[in-house]
Amino acid sequence: MKLSLVIPTYNERENIRGLISEVLWEFKANKIDGEIIVVDDNSPDGTGELLDEILRKNRKVRVIHREEKMGLSSAVLEGWKIAKGDVLGVMDANLSHPPDKIKDLLWSIEKGKADFAIGSRYVRGGKIMGRSVGRNAMSKLANLVARVFTNVKDPMTGFFMIRKSCIKDVELDPNGFKILLEIIIKGKHKNIQEIPITFVGRVEGRSKVGISEIFSYVKNLIGYASYQKLLSRDLMMFSFAGLVGTILNLSILYFMTEIFGIYYLISAVFSFSIAMTSNFFMNKILTFREKITFNIGRKYLQFVSVSLVALLVNLTFLFIFTDIFGIYYLISQAMAIGVTALINFFGNKIWTFSK
Ligand code: GDD
Ligand code: MN
Repeated sequence: MKLSLVIPTYNERENIRGLISEVLWEFKANKIDGEIIVVDDNSPDGTGELLDEILRKNRKVRVIHREEKMGLSSAVLEGWKIAKGDVLGVMDANLSHPPDKIKDLLWSIEKGKADFAIGSRYVRGGKIMGRSVGRNAMSKLANLVARVFTNVKDPMTGFFMIRKSCIKDVELDPNGFKILLEIIIKGKHKNIQEIPITFVGRVEGRSKVGISEIFSYVKNLIGYASYQKLLSRDLMMFSFAGLVGTILNLSILYFMTEIFGIYYLISAVFSFSIAMTSNFFMNKILTFREKITFNIGRKYLQFVSVSLVALLVNLTFLFIFTDIFGIYYLISQAMAIGVTALINFFGNKIWTFSK
Protein backbone atom coordinates (compact mmCIF):
# COMPACT_ATOMS: atom_id res chain seq x y z
CA MET A 1 0.00 0.00 0.00
CA LYS A 2 1.14 3.49 -0.67
CA LEU A 3 1.49 5.89 2.25
CA SER A 4 1.13 9.66 2.10
CA LEU A 5 2.56 11.16 5.24
CA VAL A 6 1.77 14.80 5.91
CA ILE A 7 4.11 16.87 8.05
CA PRO A 8 2.74 20.31 8.93
CA THR A 9 5.35 22.94 9.69
CA TYR A 10 5.40 26.34 11.23
CA ASN A 11 8.87 27.55 12.20
CA GLU A 12 10.57 24.17 12.15
CA ARG A 13 13.80 25.03 10.41
CA GLU A 14 15.93 23.35 13.08
CA ASN A 15 13.92 20.15 12.96
CA ILE A 16 12.57 19.47 9.51
CA ARG A 17 15.71 18.35 7.69
CA GLY A 18 16.57 15.77 10.34
CA LEU A 19 13.03 14.45 10.46
CA ILE A 20 12.72 14.09 6.71
CA SER A 21 15.90 12.13 6.45
CA GLU A 22 14.85 9.85 9.29
CA VAL A 23 11.48 9.23 7.68
CA LEU A 24 13.03 8.55 4.29
CA TRP A 25 15.39 6.14 5.94
CA GLU A 26 12.46 4.32 7.53
CA PHE A 27 10.72 4.13 4.15
CA LYS A 28 13.79 2.57 2.63
CA ALA A 29 14.68 0.20 5.44
CA ASN A 30 11.14 -1.17 5.62
CA LYS A 31 10.37 -1.12 1.90
CA ILE A 32 7.56 1.35 2.42
CA ASP A 33 6.15 2.92 -0.72
CA GLY A 34 5.75 6.37 0.77
CA GLU A 35 5.68 10.04 0.01
CA ILE A 36 6.16 12.95 2.39
CA ILE A 37 3.97 16.02 1.98
CA VAL A 38 5.16 18.99 3.98
CA VAL A 39 2.66 21.79 4.43
CA ASP A 40 4.34 25.02 5.46
CA ASP A 41 2.50 28.18 6.42
CA ASN A 42 5.05 30.72 5.23
CA SER A 43 7.14 30.24 8.38
CA PRO A 44 9.02 33.43 9.26
CA ASP A 45 12.09 31.39 10.21
CA GLY A 46 12.65 30.29 6.63
CA THR A 47 11.42 26.68 6.86
CA GLY A 48 9.87 27.14 3.42
CA GLU A 49 13.13 28.00 1.66
CA LEU A 50 14.88 25.11 3.33
CA LEU A 51 12.09 22.81 2.14
CA ASP A 52 12.50 23.93 -1.45
CA GLU A 53 16.14 23.04 -1.20
CA ILE A 54 15.37 19.57 0.20
CA LEU A 55 12.67 19.09 -2.42
CA ARG A 56 15.09 19.52 -5.29
CA LYS A 57 17.10 16.53 -4.10
CA ASN A 58 14.23 14.22 -3.37
CA ARG A 59 11.43 12.79 -5.44
CA LYS A 60 9.59 11.44 -2.42
CA VAL A 61 9.17 14.84 -0.84
CA ARG A 62 6.43 17.24 -1.90
CA VAL A 63 5.80 20.67 -0.45
CA ILE A 64 2.74 22.88 -0.18
CA HIS A 65 3.40 26.54 0.59
CA ARG A 66 0.52 28.44 2.10
CA GLU A 67 0.35 32.20 2.37
CA GLU A 68 -0.06 32.48 6.12
CA LYS A 69 -0.52 30.55 9.33
CA MET A 70 -3.88 28.86 9.02
CA GLY A 71 -3.73 26.19 11.67
CA LEU A 72 -2.63 22.61 12.08
CA SER A 73 -5.84 20.82 11.09
CA SER A 74 -6.36 22.69 7.87
CA ALA A 75 -2.71 22.08 6.96
CA VAL A 76 -3.23 18.34 7.39
CA LEU A 77 -6.40 18.31 5.30
CA GLU A 78 -4.75 20.37 2.59
CA GLY A 79 -1.84 17.95 2.45
CA TRP A 80 -4.15 14.96 2.19
CA LYS A 81 -5.97 16.59 -0.71
CA ILE A 82 -2.99 16.07 -2.99
CA ALA A 83 -2.05 12.70 -1.50
CA LYS A 84 -1.45 9.81 -3.90
CA GLY A 85 -1.49 7.11 -1.24
CA ASP A 86 -4.19 4.71 -0.09
CA VAL A 87 -3.17 5.38 3.47
CA LEU A 88 -3.08 8.93 4.82
CA GLY A 89 -0.87 9.78 7.75
CA VAL A 90 0.35 12.71 9.79
CA MET A 91 3.15 13.42 12.23
CA ASP A 92 4.70 16.47 13.88
CA ALA A 93 7.80 18.05 12.42
CA ASN A 94 9.64 18.50 15.66
CA LEU A 95 10.71 14.92 16.40
CA SER A 96 8.07 14.47 19.08
CA HIS A 97 6.84 11.36 17.31
CA PRO A 98 9.13 8.36 16.74
CA PRO A 99 9.74 7.72 13.02
CA ASP A 100 10.47 4.05 13.75
CA LYS A 101 6.79 3.58 14.58
CA ILE A 102 5.72 4.59 11.08
CA LYS A 103 6.03 0.99 9.96
CA ASP A 104 3.99 -0.32 12.89
CA LEU A 105 1.11 2.03 12.18
CA LEU A 106 1.20 1.26 8.48
CA TRP A 107 1.49 -2.49 8.94
CA SER A 108 -1.46 -2.53 11.28
CA ILE A 109 -3.52 -1.19 8.37
CA GLU A 110 -1.81 -3.26 5.68
CA LYS A 111 -2.36 -6.48 7.58
CA GLY A 112 -6.01 -5.62 7.99
CA LYS A 113 -5.88 -5.40 11.78
CA ALA A 114 -7.25 -1.89 11.60
CA ASP A 115 -8.26 0.74 9.12
CA PHE A 116 -7.24 3.48 11.53
CA ALA A 117 -3.96 3.29 13.45
CA ILE A 118 -3.15 5.74 16.21
CA GLY A 119 0.23 6.41 17.82
CA SER A 120 -0.87 6.48 21.42
CA ARG A 121 0.79 7.78 24.56
CA TYR A 122 -1.84 6.45 26.89
CA VAL A 123 -1.97 2.73 26.16
CA ARG A 124 0.31 0.21 27.88
CA GLY A 125 3.84 0.82 26.69
CA GLY A 126 3.16 4.42 25.67
CA LYS A 127 4.97 7.32 27.35
CA ILE A 128 5.45 11.05 27.49
CA MET A 129 8.89 12.47 28.10
CA GLY A 130 10.20 15.96 28.68
CA ARG A 131 6.98 17.87 28.86
CA SER A 132 5.94 20.27 31.58
CA VAL A 133 3.57 19.22 34.34
CA GLY A 134 1.15 21.92 33.21
CA ARG A 135 1.07 20.71 29.61
CA ASN A 136 0.58 17.14 30.75
CA ALA A 137 -2.28 18.08 33.02
CA MET A 138 -3.93 20.03 30.21
CA SER A 139 -3.58 17.10 27.87
CA LYS A 140 -5.03 14.71 30.48
CA LEU A 141 -8.00 17.00 31.04
CA ALA A 142 -8.73 17.38 27.33
CA ASN A 143 -8.54 13.59 27.10
CA LEU A 144 -10.93 13.05 29.95
CA VAL A 145 -13.50 15.33 28.38
CA ALA A 146 -13.15 13.53 25.06
CA ARG A 147 -14.20 10.29 26.78
CA VAL A 148 -17.72 11.48 26.30
CA PHE A 149 -17.26 10.76 22.60
CA THR A 150 -14.80 7.92 22.29
CA ASN A 151 -13.05 5.06 24.02
CA VAL A 152 -9.80 5.85 22.26
CA LYS A 153 -7.23 6.43 24.97
CA ASP A 154 -5.30 9.15 23.15
CA PRO A 155 -7.67 11.05 20.85
CA MET A 156 -5.35 14.10 20.98
CA THR A 157 -2.24 12.60 19.53
CA GLY A 158 -0.83 14.18 16.40
CA PHE A 159 0.51 10.90 14.95
CA PHE A 160 -1.86 8.56 13.13
CA MET A 161 -2.76 6.88 9.85
CA ILE A 162 -6.05 6.04 8.21
CA ARG A 163 -7.24 4.38 5.03
CA LYS A 164 -8.16 7.09 2.58
CA SER A 165 -11.51 5.43 1.87
CA CYS A 166 -12.56 5.95 5.50
CA ILE A 167 -12.71 9.71 5.11
CA LYS A 168 -13.90 9.86 1.54
CA ASP A 169 -16.96 12.15 1.35
CA VAL A 170 -16.71 12.88 5.08
CA GLU A 171 -16.94 16.56 5.83
CA LEU A 172 -14.20 17.56 8.23
CA ASP A 173 -14.06 20.95 9.88
CA PRO A 174 -10.57 22.33 9.48
CA ASN A 175 -10.73 24.61 12.51
CA GLY A 176 -8.64 24.08 15.56
CA PHE A 177 -5.97 21.70 16.64
CA LYS A 178 -7.74 18.43 17.19
CA ILE A 179 -8.32 16.85 13.85
CA LEU A 180 -7.93 13.31 15.15
CA LEU A 181 -10.91 13.49 17.47
CA GLU A 182 -12.98 14.86 14.62
CA ILE A 183 -12.03 11.93 12.40
CA ILE A 184 -12.70 9.43 15.19
CA ILE A 185 -16.20 10.83 15.50
CA LYS A 186 -17.06 11.36 11.84
CA GLY A 187 -14.92 8.85 9.92
CA LYS A 188 -16.20 5.61 8.35
CA HIS A 189 -13.56 3.39 9.92
CA LYS A 190 -14.42 0.06 11.49
CA ASN A 191 -11.38 -0.89 13.57
CA ILE A 192 -9.13 1.46 15.43
CA GLN A 193 -5.84 0.21 16.79
CA GLU A 194 -3.80 2.22 19.25
CA ILE A 195 -0.09 1.57 19.04
CA PRO A 196 2.08 2.69 21.95
CA ILE A 197 4.58 5.44 21.25
CA THR A 198 6.91 7.53 23.34
CA PHE A 199 6.17 11.22 22.84
CA VAL A 200 9.11 13.54 23.41
CA GLY A 201 8.40 17.17 24.28
CA ARG A 202 9.89 19.55 21.77
CA VAL A 203 13.60 20.29 22.00
CA GLU A 204 13.79 23.16 19.54
CA GLY A 205 11.41 26.08 19.25
CA ARG A 206 8.16 26.60 21.11
CA SER A 207 4.77 24.94 21.19
CA LYS A 208 2.05 26.65 19.23
CA VAL A 209 -0.92 25.82 21.42
CA GLY A 210 -2.60 28.81 23.00
CA ILE A 211 -5.86 30.05 24.43
CA SER A 212 -7.48 30.22 21.01
CA GLU A 213 -6.81 26.48 20.50
CA ILE A 214 -8.53 25.74 23.78
CA PHE A 215 -11.54 27.79 22.74
CA SER A 216 -11.84 26.10 19.40
CA TYR A 217 -11.53 22.73 21.13
CA VAL A 218 -14.49 23.51 23.38
CA LYS A 219 -16.43 24.86 20.42
CA ASN A 220 -15.77 21.69 18.46
CA LEU A 221 -16.84 19.51 21.38
CA ILE A 222 -20.17 21.26 21.56
CA GLY A 223 -20.61 20.60 17.85
CA TYR A 224 -19.82 16.89 18.27
CA ALA A 225 -22.33 16.60 21.09
CA SER A 226 -25.16 17.25 18.69
CA TYR A 227 -23.52 15.17 15.98
CA GLN A 228 -23.37 12.02 18.04
CA LYS A 229 -26.71 10.43 18.59
CA LEU A 230 -25.16 7.86 20.90
CA LEU A 231 -24.97 10.46 23.61
CA SER A 232 -28.71 10.98 23.70
CA ARG A 233 -29.40 7.25 23.88
CA ASP A 234 -27.12 6.98 26.92
CA LEU A 235 -28.69 10.04 28.48
CA MET A 236 -32.16 8.60 28.03
CA MET A 237 -31.23 5.31 29.66
CA PHE A 238 -29.56 7.21 32.45
CA SER A 239 -32.65 9.30 33.07
CA PHE A 240 -34.80 6.17 33.06
CA ALA A 241 -32.58 4.60 35.72
CA GLY A 242 -32.81 7.87 37.65
CA LEU A 243 -36.58 7.79 37.50
CA VAL A 244 -36.72 4.26 38.87
CA GLY A 245 -34.27 5.28 41.59
CA THR A 246 -36.40 8.25 42.56
CA ILE A 247 -39.54 6.14 42.84
CA LEU A 248 -37.68 3.62 44.99
CA ASN A 249 -36.23 6.38 47.14
CA LEU A 250 -39.58 8.00 47.84
CA SER A 251 -41.51 4.80 48.49
CA ILE A 252 -38.90 3.34 50.84
CA LEU A 253 -38.73 6.64 52.68
CA TYR A 254 -42.51 6.63 53.04
CA PHE A 255 -42.83 3.02 54.19
CA MET A 256 -40.01 3.11 56.70
CA THR A 257 -41.16 6.36 58.23
CA GLU A 258 -44.93 5.98 58.15
CA ILE A 259 -45.43 2.23 58.48
CA PHE A 260 -42.45 1.21 60.61
CA GLY A 261 -42.18 4.49 62.50
CA ILE A 262 -38.45 4.96 61.91
CA TYR A 263 -37.01 8.48 62.35
CA TYR A 264 -37.28 10.14 58.92
CA LEU A 265 -33.61 11.15 58.56
CA ILE A 266 -32.52 7.57 59.16
CA SER A 267 -35.08 6.35 56.64
CA ALA A 268 -33.71 8.94 54.21
CA VAL A 269 -30.14 7.68 54.45
CA PHE A 270 -31.39 4.17 53.91
CA SER A 271 -33.62 4.99 50.96
CA PHE A 272 -30.90 7.12 49.36
CA SER A 273 -28.43 4.23 49.56
CA ILE A 274 -30.85 1.77 48.02
CA ALA A 275 -31.80 4.15 45.23
CA MET A 276 -28.13 4.78 44.51
CA THR A 277 -27.43 1.07 44.36
CA SER A 278 -30.34 0.53 42.03
CA ASN A 279 -29.05 3.37 39.84
CA PHE A 280 -25.64 1.77 39.81
CA PHE A 281 -26.87 -1.58 38.57
CA MET A 282 -29.28 -0.19 36.04
CA ASN A 283 -26.63 2.08 34.56
CA LYS A 284 -23.99 -0.61 34.58
CA ILE A 285 -26.20 -2.99 32.66
CA LEU A 286 -28.54 -0.82 30.62
CA THR A 287 -26.83 2.47 29.98
CA PHE A 288 -23.22 1.39 29.71
CA ARG A 289 -23.84 -2.24 28.75
CA GLU A 290 -21.34 -3.93 31.02
CA LYS A 291 -21.44 -7.34 32.60
CA ILE A 292 -22.78 -7.19 36.16
CA THR A 293 -19.69 -8.70 37.72
CA PHE A 294 -17.07 -6.79 35.74
CA ASN A 295 -14.93 -4.79 38.26
CA ILE A 296 -18.00 -4.49 40.36
CA GLY A 297 -16.39 -3.39 43.66
CA ARG A 298 -14.20 -0.68 42.20
CA LYS A 299 -16.97 0.62 39.99
CA TYR A 300 -19.46 0.75 42.80
CA LEU A 301 -17.04 2.86 44.83
CA GLN A 302 -16.49 5.17 41.87
CA PHE A 303 -20.22 5.47 41.32
CA VAL A 304 -20.77 6.30 44.99
CA SER A 305 -17.99 8.92 44.88
CA VAL A 306 -19.55 10.61 41.87
CA SER A 307 -22.92 10.56 43.63
CA LEU A 308 -21.43 12.17 46.70
CA VAL A 309 -19.73 14.90 44.69
CA ALA A 310 -23.02 15.50 42.91
CA LEU A 311 -24.85 15.63 46.21
CA LEU A 312 -22.38 18.20 47.52
CA VAL A 313 -22.81 20.35 44.43
CA ASN A 314 -26.57 19.91 44.73
CA LEU A 315 -26.56 21.22 48.29
CA THR A 316 -24.30 24.11 47.35
CA PHE A 317 -26.58 25.19 44.51
CA LEU A 318 -29.63 24.71 46.67
CA PHE A 319 -28.09 27.01 49.26
CA ILE A 320 -27.03 29.64 46.74
CA PHE A 321 -30.41 29.75 44.97
CA THR A 322 -32.42 29.75 48.19
CA ASP A 323 -30.40 31.80 50.67
CA ILE A 324 -28.57 34.17 48.38
CA PHE A 325 -31.10 34.70 45.56
CA GLY A 326 -34.13 34.16 47.75
CA ILE A 327 -35.77 31.60 45.47
CA TYR A 328 -38.38 29.28 46.99
CA TYR A 329 -36.50 26.15 48.09
CA LEU A 330 -38.50 23.63 46.03
CA ILE A 331 -37.86 25.64 42.90
CA SER A 332 -34.18 25.94 43.82
CA GLN A 333 -34.02 22.19 44.17
CA ALA A 334 -35.67 21.64 40.80
CA MET A 335 -32.98 23.82 39.23
CA ALA A 336 -30.19 22.16 41.17
CA ILE A 337 -31.32 18.73 39.98
CA GLY A 338 -30.31 19.61 36.42
CA VAL A 339 -26.73 20.35 37.43
CA THR A 340 -26.59 17.31 39.67
CA ALA A 341 -27.86 15.00 36.95
CA LEU A 342 -25.24 16.25 34.51
CA ILE A 343 -22.44 15.67 37.00
CA ASN A 344 -23.75 12.19 37.66
CA PHE A 345 -24.10 11.36 34.01
CA PHE A 346 -20.82 12.71 32.70
CA GLY A 347 -18.85 11.76 35.81
CA ASN A 348 -19.88 8.15 35.43
CA LYS A 349 -19.63 8.08 31.67
CA ILE A 350 -16.08 9.36 31.49
CA TRP A 351 -14.79 7.85 34.71
CA THR A 352 -16.68 4.93 36.21
CA PHE A 353 -17.78 3.31 32.99
CA SER A 354 -15.13 4.53 30.57
CA LYS A 355 -13.72 1.67 28.51
N1 GDD B 1 1.33 24.38 8.60
C1 GDD B 1 1.11 24.58 9.91
N2 GDD B 1 0.27 25.59 10.29
N3 GDD B 1 1.72 23.80 10.82
C2 GDD B 1 1.50 24.04 12.12
C3 GDD B 1 0.65 25.07 12.59
C4 GDD B 1 0.00 25.89 11.59
O1 GDD B 1 -0.75 26.81 11.89
N4 GDD B 1 0.62 25.03 13.95
C5 GDD B 1 1.44 24.01 14.29
N5 GDD B 1 1.98 23.42 13.23
C6 GDD B 1 2.89 22.26 13.16
C7 GDD B 1 4.17 22.40 13.95
O2 GDD B 1 5.21 22.96 13.20
C8 GDD B 1 4.44 20.95 14.34
O3 GDD B 1 5.07 20.25 13.31
C9 GDD B 1 3.07 20.38 14.52
O4 GDD B 1 2.20 21.19 13.75
C10 GDD B 1 2.64 20.36 15.99
O5 GDD B 1 2.76 21.65 16.55
P1 GDD B 1 3.41 21.90 17.99
O6 GDD B 1 3.49 23.34 18.22
O7 GDD B 1 4.65 21.09 18.15
O8 GDD B 1 2.24 21.32 18.86
P2 GDD B 1 2.30 20.66 20.28
O9 GDD B 1 3.57 19.96 20.55
O10 GDD B 1 1.87 21.68 21.23
O11 GDD B 1 1.12 19.61 20.10
C11 GDD B 1 1.38 18.30 19.67
O12 GDD B 1 1.00 17.42 20.66
C12 GDD B 1 -0.40 17.43 20.93
C13 GDD B 1 -0.71 16.43 21.98
O13 GDD B 1 0.04 16.62 23.11
C14 GDD B 1 0.64 18.02 18.36
O14 GDD B 1 1.04 16.73 17.91
C15 GDD B 1 -0.83 18.01 18.56
O15 GDD B 1 -1.46 17.57 17.37
C16 GDD B 1 -1.16 17.09 19.68
O16 GDD B 1 -2.52 17.16 19.93
MN1 MN C 1 5.19 19.60 19.51
